[in-house]
Amino acid sequence: MIGTGYVGLTTALMLCELNHQVVCIDTDTAKLKQLKSNRIPFHEPGLEELLNRHLSRGSLSFTSDTGQGVRESDILFITVGTPSKSDGSTDLSQIKNVAETIGSNQNGYKVVVNKSTAPVGTCEKVHRWILERQPRKLPVDVVCNPEFLREGKALYDALHPDRVVIGAENGKAARFIRNLYDAISCPKMMTGLRTAELIKYSANAFLAMKISFINEIGRLCDAHGVDVTDVATGIGLDSRIGSRFLKAGIGWGGSCFPKDLASLVHMFEQADLSPRILEAVRQVNDTQVEYYLRQLEERLGDVRGKTISILGIAFKPDTDDIREAPAIKVIQALHKKGAFLKAYDPVVFIHRAPTGLPVTLCSEMSETFEDSDCIFLLTEWKNFLHFDWKSHRHRMRTPLIIDGRNALDQNALTQYGYIYYGIGRVYSKLASL
Ligand SMILES: NC(=O)c1ccc[n+]([C@@H]2O[C@H](COP(=O)([O-])OP(=O)(O)OC[C@H]3O[C@@H](n4cnc5c(N)ncnc54)[C@H](O)[C@@H]3O)[C@@H](O)[C@H]2O)c1
Repeated sequence: MIGTGYVGLTTALMLCELNHQVVCIDTDTAKLKQLKSNRIPFHEPGLEELLNRHLSRGSLSFTSDTGQGVRESDILFITVGTPSKSDGSTDLSQIKNVAETIGSNQNGYKVVVNKSTAPVGTCEKVHRWILERQPRKLPVDVVCNPEFLREGKALYDALHPDRVVIGAENGKAARFIRNLYDAISCPKMMTGLRTAELIKYSANAFLAMKISFINEIGRLCDAHGVDVTDVATGIGLDSRIGSRFLKAGIGWGGSCFPKDLASLVHMFEQADLSPRILEAVRQVNDTQVEYYLRQLEERLGDVRGKTISILGIAFKPDTDDIREAPAIKVIQALHKKGAFLKAYDPVVFIHRAPTGLPVTLCSEMSETFEDSDCIFLLTEWKNFLHFDWKSHRHRMRTPLIIDGRNALDQNALTQYGYIYYGIGRVYSKLASL
């Protein structure tokens, strides 16, 4: 497993659970040191227990020596990062570097499986990059096996995927990889390399589209006094639509959707096509923070000099990942407008804010209420939802709640005397009867 981040480590542990022997390789020696001493370098539920189990069984090992890992393995998974470049295209330098190292160290037949999300045509490049570094022209097959796991539920998703997609040009290599997943019961789709690559991007784009769609409907609900949660339920009950990813809120972020949509848009442009739906999906999302800030200012007036408390920094619950997290955008925008910011997250920056983030960290959720003019919820951590909101209202200067995830109990909060705003939420007199 070359690359031991969220995807690499989870995949490695899943394969160990299926009785395979796995060597994890990473260039980040600090990360490896933690892993070797049974510690997960990021927050992902369930991984630590499996790490302990497989380290002690000897089915899992770690090394920074990629050459040695390549020589000792039959199958090489690539699970390194594929960040965006400034033009939206994907930076393939980490993948290229790994492919070249594989080529230089190849000592027999290998199957190279790319799991990193990368544009259509990347696996063909990987094949070429390996061969260019490999003078003996040993046989190598490249397979595309895109990953669909969700951070926060990574282990569950790896062990219970909705489907496994295997793209290959060589049937023998494809079957070899499918056999790895024999013990997992789900549809296994065998397809071409390019198709597998495009399936991953299309899946993420579709999910982002559902979120942007309901967010746009949420704005219309605000204008007409209609409850968006009821609209979402009403449309989600249609089995052609489905209820998931129809929760209106501050918008999508994270390590995948923003960069993957940018990359897909770039692929369209490279093909001289206009990605009209994707552009709209991104535009709705890009303007959602602004929309919420307008709602906040309508209720609080000018935010200059006011104290605003951010609840939740992670881009979603059960992860410490803050890549492209909406909370970061909100903090920066409110700071620019002259607000004083406090923040609390149960796992992110527990000890100190990263340099440059203009926020005072609270060590407990209750501290965010103290002399605050607004609490802005941006990650729906479970303990936020089950907090004793009633007892803390009096500690706020202005009891305003902006619920960026439509996660809180609006009726209860209103009864406790809070001013509540959630996109497209309507106070239900019926619910309080
Ligand atoms: N995080 C997710 O939820 C998710 C879901 C599906 C797909 N993906 C895709 O999977 C890929 C990995 O994502 P991630 O979130 O696990 O990234 P990550 O940043 O958590 O991990 C990547 C790891 O690769 C290591 N690395 C970089 N260059 C290396 C090299 N030359 N040799 C060995 N190790 C090297 C880094 O040190 C890092 O530990 C990306 O393409 C991403 O788009 C991510």
